[in-house]
Amino acid sequence: MCGIVGIVGREPVAGRLVEALKRLEYRGYDSAGVATLEAGRLVRRRAEGKLRNLEERLAREPLQGMIGVGHTRWATHGRPTENNAHPHASERLAVVHNGIIENFRELREELSARGHVFATETDTEVVAHLVTDEMDGGKSPREAVAAALPRLRGAFALGFVFDGQENLLIAARQGAPLAVGYGDGETFLGSDALALAPFTDTITYLEDGDWAVLTREGVEFFDARNAPVTRARLRTQASAFLIDKGNHRHFMAKEIHEQPEVVGRTLAHYLDMSQGCVRLPFDLPFDASKLTRLTIVACGTAYYAGLVAKYWFERYARIPVEIDVASEFRYREPPLDATGLTIVVSQSGETADTLASLRYAKEKGQKTVAVVNVPTSTIARECDAPALTLAGPEIGVASTKAFTCQLSVLACLAIAIGRARGALSLERESALVSQLIAVPGLLAEAIKREPKIEQVSATLAKASDVLYLGRGASFPLAMEGALKLKEISYIHAEGYAAGELKHGPIALIDESMPVIVIAPHDGVYEKTVSNMQEVAARGGRIILIADNRAADEAAIDFHAVVAMPAMEPDFAPIVYAAPAQLLAYHTAVIMGNDVDQPRHLAKSVTVE
Ligand code: F6R
Repeated sequence: MCGIVGIVGREPVAGRLVEALKRLEYRGYDSAGVATLEAGRLVRRRAEGKLRNLEERLAREPLQGMIGVGHTRWATHGRPTENNAHPHASERLAVVHNGIIENFRELREELSARGHVFATETDTEVVAHLVTDEMDGGKSPREAVAAALPRLRGAFALGFVFDGQENLLIAARQGAPLAVGYGDGETFLGSDALALAPFTDTITYLEDGDWAVLTREGVEFFDARNAPVTRARLRTQASAFLIDKGNHRHFMAKEIHEQPEVVGRTLAHYLDMSQGCVRLPFDLPFDASKLTRLTIVACGTAYYAGLVAKYWFERYARIPVEIDVASEFRYREPPLDATGLTIVVSQSGETADTLASLRYAKEKGQKTVAVVNVPTSTIARECDAPALTLAGPEIGVASTKAFTCQLSVLACLAIAIGRARGALSLERESALVSQLIAVPGLLAEAIKREPKIEQVSATLAKASDVLYLGRGASFPLAMEGALKLKEISYIHAEGYAAGELKHGPIALIDESMPVIVIAPHDGVYEKTVSNMQEVAARGGRIILIADNRAADEAAIDFHAVVAMPAMEPDFAPIVYAAPAQLLAYHTAVIMGNDVDQPRHLAKSVTVE
């Protein structure tokens, strides 16, 4: 899960490669590197750690080559050292790679036996040697790549430049996204349209199994059987999005604050506000009245959005919902029949396990809907109906605005399917839609509690463990709150169903462990109060996220209360997500962590 770029240019490319890599840093930031041709000879510059280290290196040791490839890494095989950083090279070529070569051990043994000497711990290096081996046998670069590709197992996107070849870049795609872009006498390669946005708005996505030859004059495409193919050119909107932090210190802060706007925009796309009903911007690709079961599959935060939505689909559409994380779902051979619907949820639309789950559901004859943020992504293109979230590019590694937009779309889908199944009356639909219309304003109110949240975060920053509790749809939100805290503050946190506490985790309660309780005033609030009393009785310090009425009714001596605006409870998870995000954000800032690029993580997970 790395970012790759390439340029066959008319002027020096190193600076532009780095510029494109900055837009791909969300895919990984363990190390970075570029390779260009200086007077026809391959030269590399690589650096451990964030991209700025590579920039400093290039400032000290500049490169002038007019053709090159670049890479930002999220380590899979081999530690994040400079030696393991891409591009990997032989005397003949340099290669950048996103993905995993599953059979790299066999290939490495075979090539070692033939005299190839390996210098790194990576799987990628076998690709360099495999193609080199073919060239040593007399093949041209094109022939060598075409011969090597069928021998690679796994998911990958590759970019090659060759020693002595000033006008040749070869790219290949299998299972990992890859796009080429067209400039004026220049061509470009990138993991996504965003990377290429500063250079061009005209791109082509390679299809699975495709490889491509880029020169200054243009791009030729070949399919997996090496037959020449034509692939459509698309105009992208990617460049329209300004990737900056505005007045905020971090992308994550900016994205949290953007939520009232992007959730409003997303809801407006799915609601007919004047009629008080949901109006989907696409036709449902199935007959909802005949649906027997709904399956939701996703990873991480998107999975928690699906878990919240399970409550909505069951309540409003009266349909049984099964939900699983994609990495489990795809391998446990779940029985699916053609009368069911699978919904996958993904911000990036490229998550390898989610994509595999989508393909599995399609193989089983199910119709598929993808709640997805990137309209040009593989998942958006392969599902039967993309239900787009209009969150705009999310740069902070910790997902925030994508989550609340996913919830918004899922709420609309639950209502639309409920109506189509006759499970929801027009009056009830209209009441629910009124509640949804209020959500962006309530989110804005919730975000205004930031000063109080910042204060509370000082307590969290001193803790080594945190418990998050919730009931009903607040339970998955508790898990999402704990995930946010883990990923950016590195504090151990667990999200639990409040009613489960007494079945084990209550043993953990003491004065040193903050217990955050998400408790909108809903039908299970009184039950949550009982659970809070159990915590208080054992000396636990409770941080309550609830409205004033709920806080007063509980009559408990809370460590702190984050007072939320009063609201109908149905869509509280969308609004209550904001304080959970802000708690994690401020805790991480107090602790001095790199909020936008937390350790070991990457934004787009294109490896399984
Ligand atoms: C957490 C986070 C991840 C993603 C997960 C799925 O803040 O961002 O857990 O939600 O990797 O990614 P997408 O939604 O791109 O499929």
